[in-house]
Amino acid sequence: MYKILANTLFIGQKLIFVPECQSTNTLLAELATASSLPEGSLVITSTQTAGRGQRGNVWLSTTGLNLTFSILLRPSFLAARQQFQLTLAASLALCKFLKSLGLNETKIKWPNDILVGTKKICGILIENSIQGERIQQSIVGIGLNINQIEFDVATATSLKLQINQSYDLNDVLHQLLPLIESAYLQLRSGNNNLLRNAYLQNLYGLNRLLPFETEGKRFDGIIEDIDEHGRLIIAHSSNRKAYEMKEVTFIL
Ligand code: BTN
Repeated sequence: MYKILANTLFIGQKLIFVPECQSTNTLLAELATASSLPEGSLVITSTQTAGRGQRGNVWLSTTGLNLTFSILLRPSFLAARQQFQLTLAASLALCKFLKSLGLNETKIKWPNDILVGTKKICGILIENSIQGERIQQSIVGIGLNINQIEFDVATATSLKLQINQSYDLNDVLHQLLPLIESAYLQLRSGNNNLLRNAYLQNLYGLNRLLPFETEGKRFDGIIEDIDEHGRLIIAHSSNRKAYEMKEVTFIL
């Protein structure tokens, strides 16, 4: 179904299409353990029977309508404490891609949900294996809603809903992969500040008063920054606190 891609150096050069699997992240992790796959290997499917999201959520996607794929990276140039850098690079690439289609309202909802306006169009699940102090392997799983127009939740959207046209999944993949590769190469060459600034520029809610929830309590706060570990810095009632992903949720 997917053609071999020639417009990248390594991401997607080895492309494994399976019509159905539980989760491309799980399958790619298994394949990487069983054989010596090159960096950039990509597993893509039409149907995930147990697609996984962040925080233990499920990722639902109608067969054949959207992109669901995972990329194998070996970012051993990153220390374990720098895991957020991968989140940053992947979400920026997706954001850049959507903006290139004219979706100027695209934002990154911390840590790595991609929104158009207030609706989610893409989710990213990054699973890292740490060896010693380094990230030895990273599986970057991406679910990008393309041609689906009906969703179980009102907070989801797709390219078709936004732009009112259908897209060829192979073409979208072909356009997207070079952007992911380029963000990853920037990271590899140590351009962390550049990436961080671009991430902040595209961060949903930056410097705005928004409702959040922590430990079952609701509060209004202002997102001021992200720290070097990727924690979200929120100011509220004269306090300024750094939150881990599990500690705070947005109330959209
Ligand atoms: C989220 O927003 O919670 C992350 C969703 C990530 C979904 C993608 S689809 C391809 C890959 N395989 C999975 O099981 N999950 C990711």
